[in-house]
Amino acid sequence: MKRIITYGTFDMLHYGHINLLRRAKERGDYLIVALSTDEFNQNSKQKKTYFSFEKRKQLLEAIRYVDLVIPEESWDQKVNDINLYQVDEFVIGDDWQGQFDFIGDQTNADVVYLARTPEISTTQIKKDLSIKNLATEHKSIVE
Ligand code: CTP
Repeated sequence: MKRIITYGTFDMLHYGHINLLRRAKERGDYLIVALSTDEFNQNSKQKKTYFSFEKRKQLLEAIRYVDLVIPEESWDQKVNDINLYQVDEFVIGDDWQGQFDFIGDQTNADVVYLARTPEISTTQIKKDLSIKNLATEHKSIVE
């Protein structure tokens, strides 16, 4: 059985996330998602998520491509996770291109960067919605 692992926040799940998870799963038989905890997001990634860890975990577990969700609590856990779960491939979007090559040297896993789906991101959704809200508020004020 070929095991794949990927890492991320996956807040406000969107089709860019689904594309990434689908292509990750297609590369093997068993997909593990290491999901950034709220504390890790806030303290180390400077991200405040809209959905809590438990909600984000539930959403991921409902996706057919995902077999197991584990918490991501630090930048340093990857080598340990890969050894513990006997992972064959570490997969992540190419916004991280080159940054995890050391995993290939320190474990038996291959490192693969997948092309990001263009345009969509959680940051973009938040930005677009806040602009639209402002536009609606403005409209109701001027009318
Ligand atoms: N991802 C992707 N295509 C996108 C958005 C994300 O392939 N359009 C991938 C990322 O490369 C990563 C995983 O999905 O491997 C989780 O990314 P995450 O940072 O949680 O999602 P973003 O939408 O990029 O969130 P943010 O805007 O907060 O950075």
